[in-house]
Amino acid sequence: MNQLDRIYQHSLSDREGFWAEAADEIDWQAPWNKVLDTSGAPHFYRWFEGARCNTCYNAVDRHVEQGRGDQAALIYDSPITNQQKTLSYSELKDKVAHCAGMMRALGIEKGDRVLIYMPMIPQAAVAMLACARLGAIHSVVFGGFAAHELATRIKDATPRLILTASCGIEPGRVIPYQPLIEDALKEAPGIVENIVVTQREQAAWDLTAGRDHDWKAGMEQAEPAECVSVTATDPLYILYTSGTTGQPKGVMRDNGGHMVALKWSMKHVYDMEPGEVYWAASDVGWVVGHSYIVYAPLLHGCTTVLFEGKPVGTPDAGTFWRVIAEHKVKALFTAPTAFRAIKKEDPDGKLIGQYDLSHFKTLFLAGERCDPDTLNWAQEKLGVPVIDHWWQTETGWAMAANCMGIEPLPIIPGSPTRAVPGYEIQVLDHDGHEVKRGEMGAICVKLPLPPGCLPTLWKADQRFIDAYLSEYPGYYQTGDAGYMDENGYVFVMARTDDIINVAGHRLSTGAMEEVLASHPDVAECAVIGAADSLKGQLPLGFLVLKSGVARDDADIISEVVALVRKQIGPVAAFKKATVVQRLPKTRSGKILRGTMRAIADGTDWKMPATIDDPAILDEIKERLQSIGYAQN
Ligand code: COA
Ligand code: AMP
Repeated sequence: MNQLDRIYQHSLSDREGFWAEAADEIDWQAPWNKVLDTSGAPHFYRWFEGARCNTCYNAVDRHVEQGRGDQAALIYDSPITNQQKTLSYSELKDKVAHCAGMMRALGIEKGDRVLIYMPMIPQAAVAMLACARLGAIHSVVFGGFAAHELATRIKDATPRLILTASCGIEPGRVIPYQPLIEDALKEAPGIVENIVVTQREQAAWDLTAGRDHDWKAGMEQAEPAECVSVTATDPLYILYTSGTTGQPKGVMRDNGGHMVALKWSMKHVYDMEPGEVYWAASDVGWVVGHSYIVYAPLLHGCTTVLFEGKPVGTPDAGTFWRVIAEHKVKALFTAPTAFRAIKKEDPDGKLIGQYDLSHFKTLFLAGERCDPDTLNWAQEKLGVPVIDHWWQTETGWAMAANCMGIEPLPIIPGSPTRAVPGYEIQVLDHDGHEVKRGEMGAICVKLPLPPGCLPTLWKADQRFIDAYLSEYPGYYQTGDAGYMDENGYVFVMARTDDIINVAGHRLSTGAMEEVLASHPDVAECAVIGAADSLKGQLPLGFLVLKSGVARDDADIISEVVALVRKQIGPVAAFKKATVVQRLPKTRSGKILRGTMRAIADGTDWKMPATIDDPAILDEIKERLQSIGYAQN
């Protein structure tokens, strides 16, 4: 048996032994009672029950104590503001301790929730680590979400404090955060007591006395706070992610299992050693940012890069190569869409040759299906292995990957390779039986999930069971469909629910439909994810107007486009919709979104046997053609 198979088998045949060994890499304040607490089975499992620890201590303080104080912990590289700044582990510790002290002075204690709404600036990472230091539970909200999404999260997580900045910066525009937060607080009143603001020079926040506090002044006045002892199973953070409705799911992460899994992954999945430079070009608002901009690289004693920019346009498609060369990045992790954007601007990869990429060893891609063209292009132009790996907000780290630190396997474009140790992946049919290799089914993970994965949803145990565990008893349902080949390679082909992936961002078409349906002229609607050569998918809306509405279709369409941008945010990238007489449905009234998607994409489709009126599809096709879809 080869090394990888041996490790994989061990991770399943002796789960507790395997993860107890991995847990030696973490500094614990008190040992666990049980490696895996199964008392809540068959739904709830807890790793390292009873152990005491602190995530911030392991990510920051212990490296200073062990001699890494002068090593760069975090490199802030912001082509959008033309700034760079490096924080050593000692400097990071100092900032995080002061930030924790500042929060404590505002009454924040272990278990309190703190909402973080920040652009990609070092204060965002400092804020997250400071929460971990106090045992406070952070809930980071991505800057591209609008006021209503913020309000939804405020109502669910009930944070006493918001840590924010005066603005975010997108190419060509500054986004002041104050109006967004004020609107959110109007929608979710009486919850947030204090707001701490990092003032940026591009926009000022007008501080409200008694509620708002200046970050800089607060940091200067603060008494540094020490790490608070928490249990391994205490929550570290909540991260909201799209579900099937407008109510996002609050994915909960614990402290102990999370540290063990992330630290293990840095060596075994990403082949990183302490002291090396790791760069996840994502955003702290997404799970990739939580796990691989902040926690994993720091837990492993690496240098992490926090990049405020875009793959193209800040200033050009060579930015990624500049960052890799300048900071001697060994591994880059981003979404395929970033590479599609670069390939479009610089198809021959001419800019790559202008930089010294000799330290660069591996490119990791995730967040959406990686099309073989993009993978092959990147591999050919960069001359390094390109590793597609598959995971989701819920798991917090890779379920399937080519484990570069164990034994690299042959790369098959279109597949994120095999199940990672700890994950028993099976592809199931409707009855919950494993399908034959090569056949499509629901991709599931046999329980218990390894450490690091969600133990439950925030204050929603029943929703956790309903959403992930009930359909296939004994398994975690990933929501992805696909197949496994004879060699155990996983192929992730589609979602089984209404989640779409736009530029590597996970969005719910159900949430967009709720917004469209709220327009006074709309009787019925549907949103699908149509294929897009740059962003993977783009949302596309179908509107049926109420009878008697005599307004211009174009006006209604621009109003619903504006409404989605206002309610969900620019990140929804909802720009196209069409008005139709009726929606295609089955005889039982189910909207045939899959058929509409196939028509829009111009792929093969069969007339559904259950359709109530096939003639509707002709109108759908015609309408789609008029806005540039359904070209085949
Ligand atoms: N704050 C405010 N607005 C934001 C934002 C933020 N943090 N992030 C994105 N937006 C806005 C964009 O400006 C854009 O606005 P527009 O409609 O006015 O143009 C809109 O949201 C859609 O953003 P996006 O889908 O990201 O498109 P883009 O054209 O700005 O950039 C890419 C396209 C491919 C360059 C970009 O998506 C990218 O870099 N992706 C990398 C992948 C990634 O980070 N994935 C995360 C998971 S790994
Ligand atoms: P998120 O929770 O935002 O990370 O999105 C997770 C979802 O993105 C998964 O459930 C998949 O649908 C998709 N996804 C992530 N990585 C991959 C990948 N490597 N291949 C195919 N789909 C992926």
